[in-house]
Amino acid sequence: MKTPKKRLVVLISGRGSNMVSLVKACQEGRVNGEIAAVISNRPDAAGLATAAAAGIKTEVIDHTAYDSREAFDRALYAVVAGYQPDVVILAGFMRILTAAFVKPLTGRLLNIHPSLLPKYPGLNTHQRAVEAGDAEGGATVHFVTEELDGGPAIIQARVPIHPGDTPQLLAARVLDQEHRIYTEAVRLICDQRVSLSTDGNALLDGKPLPEEGILFCEQ
Ligand code: GRF
Repeated sequence: MKTPKKRLVVLISGRGSNMVSLVKACQEGRVNGEIAAVISNRPDAAGLATAAAAGIKTEVIDHTAYDSREAFDRALYAVVAGYQPDVVILAGFMRILTAAFVKPLTGRLLNIHPSLLPKYPGLNTHQRAVEAGDAEGGATVHFVTEELDGGPAIIQARVPIHPGDTPQLLAARVLDQEHRIYTEAVRLICDQRVSLSTDGNALLDGKPLPEEGILFCEQ
């Protein structure tokens, strides 16, 4: 028997293509969840219009209106908590979050990062991978902890880096996989198959996942 749909809140700062793929997965019943709201820290985020057009509630909490990171994080948490989310999904949300936001959401807060973590936390991941001459790039979905891009991995997708690849070509190849692995990770969480243990391990069906999470293979 299906459990009730999980309530999801998605945080974006820009284009929102990962958000769109999650919206579709929920609407098509591939994920047992419903998106209660899409929230942006930037009023000009293109994804806000896309979400509104899909009939989803949107909100803007503009970080420039706050004096400190903590003040913004507290305000953001208050709005997010108002939706009583089961899962909070960072999808291209370009702000470093402090304990004021992360702590109360531990185990319910996910992020996608466009690299094979623990390699290349932070920005410009594709450029760094191409410049280093890496044979592979990819993306990782992970639980968020207070360490930037440092929480336990849930799922990872790998893609080849070809000779002559630019960061833009690699980014497009990775983004395709991001849409798949984020949907898969959220599906597993909504089905209560993936969770975060009290000692900080990502679990699948109650068993600890390896450091790189589930290795996603293209279908
Ligand atoms: C993605 O590459 C994601 O991994 C990174 O920011 C990008 C957001 O893209 N954190 P979109 O807004 O979901 O299209």
